[in-house]
Amino acid sequence: MRRAVCPGSFDPIHNGHLEVIARAASLFDEVIVAVSTNPAKKYRFTLAERLDMARETLASLKGIVVEPVGDGLLAEYCRQRGVSAIVKGLRSSSDFDYELPMATMNRQLSGVETVFLPAEAHYIHLSSTLIKEVAGLGGSVSDYVPRSVHRRMVAGGSSVDDQPRG
Ligand code: PNS
Repeated sequence: MRRAVCPGSFDPIHNGHLEVIARAASLFDEVIVAVSTNPAKKYRFTLAERLDMARETLASLKGIVVEPVGDGLLAEYCRQRGVSAIVKGLRSSSDFDYELPMATMNRQLSGVETVFLPAEAHYIHLSSTLIKEVAGLGGSVSDYVPRSVHRRMVAGGSSVDDQPRG
């Protein structure tokens, strides 16, 4: 069983994430979408909401599990679950500069490899941050997020400092 993990804040999950997760699912037997909470970050959605949105969106895809990362190291999380690779989408060279030290650190900590997938051109400009800014200023983001996420953004979800849970 080849198991991969797609980690991230997913605040909220968007179509660029989905495209990378679907491609990861075609390469591995199981993909864990691991939703992280960094106590130093402010989130628009609670961990429970971010998990719900990811689960609702990915429910129809086979071989995908959505879980919280917890508050420990991703490398340790991967070791405990027998994960062979962390899969990340790369949109730009600045993504690469940000990701490379983490990939090297994760491999040195637990032997887990990181596999980079080039982002699909159509989604190369997408980030959760930009989507939240556009939506917050009244712009339409319906082309960029799944329906369940759009519903919550329009309804106005939580705006809280999330606390790590499990
Ligand atoms: O979507 P994000 O916030 O850019 O995701 C960042 C994430 C979850 C990949 C990164 O913060 C992470 O790996 N966090 C887990 C804690 C950890 O292992 N930190 C050391 C990384 S080498």
